[in-house]
Amino acid sequence: MKRRLALSLILLLLLAGCATTNKVTNTNGIDKLQADGEKVYVGFALDTLKESRWYRDKENVENKVKELGGNIKTLAANGNQDVQIEQVKLLINEGIDILIIVPSDSKTASKAVQLAHDAGVKVIAYDRLIMDAPLDYYISFDNEKVGEMQAQITLDQVSEGNIAYIGGSKADNNALFFREGAMNVLQPLIDSGDIKLVYDKYTENWSKEIAEKNLRVFLNNNNISIDGIIAANDTLAGAAVNVIGQNTDIPISGQDAELSAIHRILAGTQTGTVYKPIDTLANQAATLAMDIANGNTISTETTTNNGSKDVPSILLEPVRINRNNIEETIIESGHFTKEEVYQ
Ligand code: BGC
Repeated sequence: MKRRLALSLILLLLLAGCATTNKVTNTNGIDKLQADGEKVYVGFALDTLKESRWYRDKENVENKVKELGGNIKTLAANGNQDVQIEQVKLLINEGIDILIIVPSDSKTASKAVQLAHDAGVKVIAYDRLIMDAPLDYYISFDNEKVGEMQAQITLDQVSEGNIAYIGGSKADNNALFFREGAMNVLQPLIDSGDIKLVYDKYTENWSKEIAEKNLRVFLNNNNISIDGIIAANDTLAGAAVNVIGQNTDIPISGQDAELSAIHRILAGTQTGTVYKPIDTLANQAATLAMDIANGNTISTETTTNNGSKDVPSILLEPVRINRNNIEETIIESGHFTKEEVYQ
């Protein structure tokens, strides 16, 4: 236990070193931040920077907050919920006016909400919902729809046979939404007997290595063929491709429109992905944070029940990608340049 705590502390310090802030924090950071009190100070607690999308989220949120006249510090917890809570404490001690958080664990992050509220700081859950807590706002995509699109990408290619579902981290509420969406599409076909869901597993920490291992063990232990794969994100789609090999025509879906996935789609080893316009998400989250901190009136179109309350929510639309619409989606939006896509 002690060793784990010490390890977490080292990790926290290392990660804190990676933090970015536009404040002078040399000798006495906290005093300086308090002296700069006329500017809104935003804390951004990320779960991870493992998938490349999170760099985009980080950069866009930071730029928008600064453009709107605020200061911001971002910390990433390397997928560790204990580290994340320590980082939230650190941000609160530094005097943040508002917390934006991508929870490492959708349930235990309720502690972060409690700590922030105790300090009079409002909390926006970013991309991932926090459960069972009096959360202030939630901004994300329609994640059930993401799951429906993921299933549809695969099922448009195979209308009967054995399907494998590679889910994300169970600690991430999004992973539950994605699976729920996929099941909306799968269930009628399972009921009619056209589709068999032969493999259905969440993946700890969204880890590529764990996903590969799980699928390999399953295939080694079962003499079964797989006709289609629904993967909860592009990392997991990459894991599936590694396991089944490059030269099969088994349809595979994903999510995030990562560059590696776009390349696989063009090479024919991945069928499609779901693109979520991260720049829009980040800009809207930063604007929301600044509005809340400045005491402006906020109106959101919808709410999401998190087990504790109906949380005012902004839910953006995902976009389904296949090899035929990369140009008018990924390239035209500026997500990637033509050169990056066709390199
Ligand atoms: C996000 C995905 C991401 C995954 C792993 C999910 O909560 O919505 O975009 O790929 O986490 O980081």
